Amino acid sequence: MPNLHDPPAPAATQPLAEWRAQFPVLAQSIHGHLLAYLDNAATTHMPRQVMQAMQDFETHERANIHRGVHTLSQRATDAFEAARATLKRFIGADAAHELVFTSGTTESLNLVAQGLWAAGPGQAWLRPGDRIIVSGLEHHANLVPWQHAARMSGAELVVLRPDAQGRLHEGDLAALLSPRTRVLALTAGANATGERPPYEAMLAMARQVGALTVLDAAQAVGHAAPALATLECDFMAFSGHKMYGPMGIGVLAGRRDALERLYPLRLGGDMVEDVSYERAVYAALPARLEGGTPNVAGAVGLAAAARFIEQVGRAAIDQHVHALRARAAAGLAALPGVTVLAPHATQAALVSFVAEDVHPHDIGTLLDERGIAVRTGHHCAQPLHDHFGLGPTTRASFALYNTPDEVERLVAGVARALETMR
Ligand SMILES: Cc1ncc(COP(=O)(O)O)c(C=O)c1O
Repeated sequence: MPNLHDPPAPAATQPLAEWRAQFPVLAQSIHGHLLAYLDNAATTHMPRQVMQAMQDFETHERANIHRGVHTLSQRATDAFEAARATLKRFIGADAAHELVFTSGTTESLNLVAQGLWAAGPGQAWLRPGDRIIVSGLEHHANLVPWQHAARMSGAELVVLRPDAQGRLHEGDLAALLSPRTRVLALTAGANATGERPPYEAMLAMARQVGALTVLDAAQAVGHAAPALATLECDFMAFSGHKMYGPMGIGVLAGRRDALERLYPLRLGGDMVEDVSYERAVYAALPARLEGGTPNVAGAVGLAAAARFIEQVGRAAIDQHVHALRARAAAGLAALPGVTVLAPHATQAALVSFVAEDVHPHDIGTLLDERGIAVRTGHHCAQPLHDHFGLGPTTRASFALYNTPDEVERLVAGVARALETMR
């Protein structure tokens, strides 16, 4: 079991390609072709060492946490808390921060949006007439909860609109900020286009007017996790399954004083200090926001994934996925009638495109026939597609195990699909 204060795993020196062997799922053929898995913005795969960590926990330590005096329960509690400590270190949290386990980014963002109005009149952070700003690049998970929070609290929801290329501008944000602004919710990387907004500066601007700041790090955490302590960030959310970890586990991390403002979403066992039939005294953080039995094996797996990323080397992963994106964007843009979205977004791990006269679902289906997995549709960012005046797109997204050869297969596969469909 990792020590509660385990140091970061030293980055290895082996070439990235050698890590691919750690991912057994990639060794299979789909429709007679070696799988080229290019749907990593939706879900990445898990290396053996993450699966092994979870299996070890399930085999030797599985028990419910926090409520047992018996040895297994204590071991499980230690494993859970060790996972928390590893992840805090991984995201660069300091003593002012706390980390709460959730089921994923969606739950984390709901916990924040709901937690800021649910305490009720006079108690809640959000009040009638307040302003919530979200960017126009957001995944539905960082938009729909704020629509609901605005409806329930009487606050006004305002969208920081991107320009025609999908960029966000600090000047536009400055024009929206006022002392009425209570929340800015922003992505660290747009899942539909790969755009990386200047979130460091934007979060700082919002905090200057007294707003709470929310960063959706779902698309950044696998290759470009920002260090929390360096940001003017009150809440940061991400999912395990987008960083080589398991599904059904995620994180809400942030400043302790900001997390303390949240009314808990999950009321029940494990999140209370004292209960009578009439009333309950809620526990301190992090238990306060972790009602019910948590996904302990998931937390153990997520911590193993964080150590895996450190071992491979974050800078190496970041460089690798950017290079694959650049190669794919150049290859696709050279095809007749193909438009790549946000071609300027060089710090992305994904590329989205549209092709004249050919529907993305046809492209996706024809690519699948050649063993190439991509995603098609609105990628849970429908308003952004409406803003561009676009329908659905095709998205290829990259992880540390992808290769330039897979990018060549993608570009050739799209070229063939276009010929077939036209
Ligand atoms: C930017 C962004 N935010 C939030 C989510 C939601 O994540 P989850 O489905 O793991 O809750 C996603 C998933 O694609 C995403 O890309």
